[in-house]
Amino acid sequence: MLGRDLMGILHSSFSRDEVIGWDIEEVDIQKEDESVTKIEKLRPEIVIHIAAYTDVDGCELNKGKAFAVNAEGTRHVALAASKCRAKMVYLSTDYVFDGEKKEPYLEGDPPHPLNVYGDSKLEGEQYVQEWVKDSLIIRTQWLYGPFGKNFVDSILRQTREKSALSIVNDQIGSPTYTADLARAISGLIRFEARGIFHVANSDFCTWYTFAEAILELSGIRRVKVLPISSKELDRPAVRPSYSVLNCQKLKKETGLTMRSWSEALKDYLSTYRQPLS
Ligand SMILES: NC(=O)c1ccc[n+]([C@@H]2O[C@H](COP(=O)([O-])OP(=O)(O)OC[C@H]3O[C@@H](n4cnc5c(N)ncnc54)[C@H](OP(=O)(O)O)[C@@H]3O)[C@@H](O)[C@H]2O)c1
Repeated sequence: MLGRDLMGILHSSFSRDEVIGWDIEEVDIQKEDESVTKIEKLRPEIVIHIAAYTDVDGCELNKGKAFAVNAEGTRHVALAASKCRAKMVYLSTDYVFDGEKKEPYLEGDPPHPLNVYGDSKLEGEQYVQEWVKDSLIIRTQWLYGPFGKNFVDSILRQTREKSALSIVNDQIGSPTYTADLARAISGLIRFEARGIFHVANSDFCTWYTFAEAILELSGIRRVKVLPISSKELDRPAVRPSYSVLNCQKLKKETGLTMRSWSEALKDYLSTYRQPLS
């Protein structure tokens, strides 16, 4: 999902020949030799690593795959980047935090993941820090965009069959548009930023409030949104009840600001999704 938006942004800011995008067909990051050999052969200046096993509940049920892709896979990419003396950019997640803080998380706050996905991504962060001298770790959250399965499209799809949707109202975060995140990643690279940065659209909401906004902005009035608790939904992976990211470091060090999630959502819906009713 993020990869295709990022390729578009990078192609428009750098020359087409300078930016090469690979998916699992080109390199399976679970395979150490393949990853290292292929990346080393290319001799890139920057390796942007966003491949991951992103199914949060799937990770809970398949811990082996979660660590093989998100932790070991990242180690392989980091090893390749260090052999090429390349800068490495790694995408990580708000799910490295446990949500106990109840105010926006800073980059330096101690991580404490509640689920396997968060655990495996945190191990990925540690490998990047251990192996690569010049690294940039970007933690983001609640992504949606035109090129992948996401919450916004899932809500819109469900309105075609249902008259009421039950949505979790006890998890707070910031929905983030992949196009905005891609622009920020490109900006951070241009600013030669290093270390950990939090990047998400500004303001926050619950999944329930987000769903209500999606319906309202799409002009759908016949479908009701009903608030439920995470306990009622009973998903395999526990999610933090609060994982808002403080993005002040991004602004302070690069001057870049992120627009609010509601503005970004309006833009996404008007660009990619026609009002359904
Ligand atoms: N989505 C979110 O809400 C969210 C939130 C916070 C952080 N992030 C992070 O942001 C990044 C991008 O997320 P996204 O939602 O755009 O992810 P995505 O749509 O699930 O894309 C991940 C890509 O990684 C590929 N991949 C999986 N295993 C691989 C392997 N062994 N070797 C090479 N490629 C492999 C997937 O291929 P297949 O499709 O063929 O499996 C897919 O193309 C990830 O690092 C994720 O952890 C995402």
